Amino acid sequence: MKTNIIINGDSLLELKKIEDSSIDLIFADPPYWMRTTGTLQRVEGTVFNGVNDEWDKFDSLEAYEQFTTDYLKECKRILKKDGSIWIIGGMQCIYTIGAIMQRLGFWIINDVVWHKTNPTPNFMGTRLNNSHETLIWATKSEKSKYTFNYKTAKELNIDFISQSDYNKGVRKQLGSVWRLSVCNGNERIKDSDGNKLHSTQKPEELLYRIIAICTNLGDTVLDPFGGTMTTAAVAKKMGRNYIMIEKDSNYCKYGKERVDKVVTNITNIESSSADIKPLKVSLEEMIINNFFINGELFYLKNSPITAILLENGKLLYKEEVYDMHTLAAKAGNKKALRLNGFDYWFVKRNNELISIDVIRQEYRNSR
Ligand SMILES: C[S@@+](CC[C@H](N)C(=O)[O-])C[C@H]1O[C@@H](n2cnc3c(N)ncnc32)[C@H](O)[C@@H]1O
Repeated sequence: MKTNIIINGDSLLELKKIEDSSIDLIFADPPYWMRTTGTLQRVEGTVFNGVNDEWDKFDSLEAYEQFTTDYLKECKRILKKDGSIWIIGGMQCIYTIGAIMQRLGFWIINDVVWHKTNPTPNFMGTRLNNSHETLIWATKSEKSKYTFNYKTAKELNIDFISQSDYNKGVRKQLGSVWRLSVCNGNERIKDSDGNKLHSTQKPEELLYRIIAICTNLGDTVLDPFGGTMTTAAVAKKMGRNYIMIEKDSNYCKYGKERVDKVVTNITNIESSSADIKPLKVSLEEMIINNFFINGELFYLKNSPITAILLENGKLLYKEEVYDMHTLAAKAGNKKALRLNGFDYWFVKRNNELISIDVIRQEYRNSR
């Protein structure tokens, strides 16, 4: 399947051309159907440029529901069985979208509140300042074994930790309220007259979190409502592939220029290194590869107890055969029935005790 492309077309048609079960992550920032009327004026009298675009207009709730159902059905078809979908919306649409997702059989993992640290004020003072949007994270079914880079998410959690604690290494579970600013400054794409190109460009930081949490290097991310191509720009930066669909050719043109300039930069976050599970290896395998010797002695630190390593990776102790985890608990007189033997057993190398965990690491490095 062709990836790293921007398709200028209607998602309702273009999604149908994508293969079944081929996408790792879908991020959708659909029309919100804002129903904005009149002109919004700031207190000092200047006009606020809200969302009043043609692409955001629908005739009725039924029309919006039909549109939502149509693209979500296709999203479900193209999503891999263990893939994830994230959809963002405001109060105008998120309840409709959530209900339709549930009706279509998506399984909701979380809803995330994006708390905007610099929201647009409510100029008229007629209701609460609307300072958040909601994201729904869902999978194709309840059984999906979706990617969740849990430890990487912890690394990204700076929302409720002071900078000094973070610098000291304090990490906390990432929660479902994210404090991020709206897109501004140099990140805002401008047209050739220097005006804001798009009324709803999302901040890169938001996409960065989602992509880091739910995908790995080389995965494919699809966005059916590309706009300024924020999703593609972040996916490329993070070493993921992208497929973008956007019906406005002008947005596609500026978006392509944006993505072309992006340079991929892989750090521990992009490679999800905190979440990569180390290779599982057995004592038996390490004996075969000469990292341990059949018949050598295993020692417990600060204890006179020794056991003999057998060819099958088990330990012989007082004429009985044990696996090393059970014997670590038994010999150490611990209450547990099993302990992680790699934390307890030592062998002698050059007449010095060395942890078998160190030897395991040497073996892993050699593979
Ligand atoms: C909320 S904006 C997405 C903004 C984008 N996330 C960004 O950061 O720039 C929705 C976009 O969907 C596009 N759009 C609306 N209906 C569409 C359709 N049926 N097919 C493809 N694009 C569509 C609009 O032109 C608009 O750019």
